[in-house]
Formats: sequence, structure tokens, C-alpha cells
Amino acid sequence: MIDLHCHILPGVDDGARCPEESLAMARKAVEDGIHTIVATPHTLNGIYVNPVTEVTSRVAALEEALLGNHIRLKLYAGADVHLCPRVLKRIETGDAGTINNARKYILLEFPPQTIPPGVKEEIFSLKLNGITPIISHLERNAIIQHDLDVMYELISTGALCQVTAMSITGDFGGMVMQCAERLLKHRLVHMIASDAHSADRRPPVLSQAVAVATQILGSFEDAERMVIDVPASILLGDMPEIPEPLPARRGHGFRKRRS
Ligand SMILES: [Fe+2]
Repeated sequence: MIDLHCHILPGVDDGARCPEESLAMARKAVEDGIHTIVATPHTLNGIYVNPVTEVTSRVAALEEALLGNHIRLKLYAGADVHLCPRVLKRIETGDAGTINNARKYILLEFPPQTIPPGVKEEIFSLKLNGITPIISHLERNAIIQHDLDVMYELISTGALCQVTAMSITGDFGGMVMQCAERLLKHRLVHMIASDAHSADRRPPVLSQAVAVATQILGSFEDAERMVIDVPASILLGDMPEIPEPLPARRGHGFRKRRS
């Protein structure tokens, strides 16, 4: 499996506190069947700034430590970019990292209580420049919890949706779990990632969420795609096949999405 959202880099945000904790997270991930992690430290959230050059060199250092400790885990650079005005400009200046530094996909985190005005324009501007935003864990957003149509509109504008594994398994409470379930049922989820911050309380584990998603979707294949095929396409900079939203009316088929 591939984990596209993980705070595994040591000492750069509220994720791993030290290299030993990063290694413990890596071991946990490998145990769970994860072979690749995109390191996505918080950036531009008013507390942390992690420019691309910094993240890239820290990924290289952690890769060396993994090798030295015989942990077979591949790492890529990325960032958990908090939504801010003129995201495109922040990418150009190197303040906001994209997945694998490829300028094809960017992981975007929204505020927990609102969907800020102007967000569609931001998505549109990124798409016009060949960059697809992946919006992280909107199942934890108060607006989405009450109105799935907002998610549908964001996806229609060109964004992809990442749901967090521990939301699906109920570790963030009933409201979040219900929202994740409804998003999955409406085929508004494209990938599952761990958003891990530690080796114990918020670990890089995906298999349990895949098992729950399998029950919700009624298909192991569809659940597994969200941790294998879709993130693999994203890492390559390709456009993944994604499900048609609102399958109750339109069926469950996958289609090749136009960029
Ligand atoms: Fe995150």
C-alpha cells in the first residue's frame, strides 16, 4: 500500500518528534503492508513553514536512516499545505510542496469549521496550471458533515478527496465516522491515507480502514484501489481512474477522468 499523507519527518511539525520516532512509524507502516510513504509535513498553517528544499533534504536524510536500519520503505517528498490565498504563487516560490515535487498534485488542508469563500477559484486556478488539489480529511469539516453536496461541488470543480484511515475506523468519533461512511457511499472518496503523527496514538496504519471501507462499499477491490492504484497513479503524475459520484443513480463504474 501507499500512504500519501503522513507526518513522518522528525522535528518539523507536530508529527514525529525525533528520528527514533520516525523509524518506529516506518516499522509500523511496513508491518501493516505499506511500502511507500509521502512525507507531508504541515506548512503555511500559521505555525509551521516547511519549504520544498528543506523537506527534500530531510526526506533524503530519513531515507538514509531507513536504509541503515534495514527498513524497506520508500519515501517521497510532499507537504500538508494549509489552504491560503494564491496557493499557486506559494508553489512557484517553493513555500508549498507538491506530491513528489512533481507539480501535478498538491495535498490541501481546509480549516475544520468552514469552507472558505474563493476556494473554487483556487481549485480552478490550480487546475488551469496542471495541478490537481487533493483535499484532505473533509470528513472532519463541520460544513461537509452537514452537506455532502459541498463535497460534490468541490470534486466537480476538479479536486480529489482523501479521507483519513482513523476517521473510517471511528477513532475520531461518531460524527466524523458517519461523514466518512456517507462520503464513501456516495463515491466521493478517492483515496485513504493515514495522516499519521506518531507510532502509537496516530500510527501509519491503513489495513483496518480498508477492511471497514470494504464493508461500506461492498467491494474489497474498490477499497483497495484507494490505497494502491489511485495513490500509485498520483505518484506517477498520472490521472487515476475515479468512481462516478452518486452511484445509487449512476452505477458503480469507474471512468477515466479528464484533467
Ligand atoms: Fe496532515
